[in-house]
Amino acid sequence: MKMLMLAGLMSLGQLVQGVASPASRSLNSSILSYYPSPAPNGDGVLVVPGGGYQAVSLDYEGAQAQAWLNERGYHVWVLNYTVASTAPAPIYPVPQNQAAEAVNQIRALDSVKKLGIWGFSAGGHLSATTVTNPDVERNLDFAILAYPVITMDPSFTHSGSRTNLIGENPSIELQSSLSGENRVTNSTPPVFLFHTANDAAVPVKNSLVFAEALAKHGRKFSILILPDGPHGIALALDDPARTWTAELERFLKNLV
Ligand SMILES: *[C@@H]1O[C@H](CO)[C@@H](O)[C@H](O)[C@H]1NC(C)=O
Ligand SMILES: *[C@@H]1O[C@H](CO)[C@@H](O)[C@H](O)[C@H]1NC(C)=O
Repeated sequence: MKMLMLAGLMSLGQLVQGVASPASRSLNSSILSYYPSPAPNGDGVLVVPGGGYQAVSLDYEGAQAQAWLNERGYHVWVLNYTVASTAPAPIYPVPQNQAAEAVNQIRALDSVKKLGIWGFSAGGHLSATTVTNPDVERNLDFAILAYPVITMDPSFTHSGSRTNLIGENPSIELQSSLSGENRVTNSTPPVFLFHTANDAAVPVKNSLVFAEALAKHGRKFSILILPDGPHGIALALDDPARTWTAELERFLKNLV
């Protein structure tokens, strides 16, 4: 399995070479890796694993989402963004810039019709800030946010993620502008939210306030809250009480 995945890994750098006038600042292939689907459905997803802005869960959340998407025909790119274990913290705005560049570079390849972003936990924060980035949102058709950190409000954020991203004493303006619930507009693309009600690391309120902001702006969204489960269950494919991909699949199939 691992060998197959490695064999399927192709650098975006290699792909971009065949495209006229590639983006001036191409992401290094150690930051953005490409996993083509063997039976493409025409669409693609940028996967953004979690890890508290301290690490990037490539082999767990990244690998599970990539395999699930490839099986369903999606071309996949996985973002190995800068975190506090690979650069001095606070790391903002580096990961936000990398995610924006990744989306815009994938679009420049012109190889997919719909393009989504799928983030987990802190990667959900990075995905939420990206899908609400005015320079990027037109290049995204949907977002999937799995047990995401949404807010930077200290009363219900994930404090490790917040400290790694913006430090312990950010300005109120920065804290507010990087809180997903304040970033939704009348043009935010459709969003699928998943959380467990008793998530002890990232309070479910994160998903609830984002859903409330989407509703306030009349945006399309789906939200699935399951009653019980720890933080970081990824796709939970082997756990009948917690797997959530059937709801996700319905959302994806009915996107318009
Ligand atoms: C990517 O970055 C690494 C580390 O900085 C470097 O060793 C490698 O040569 C770079 N690869 C490309 C394709 O630029
Ligand atoms: C992810 O990025 C880190 C930091 O640049 C690097 O050390 C690591 O090798 C990268 N992982 C992969 C799988 O490219």
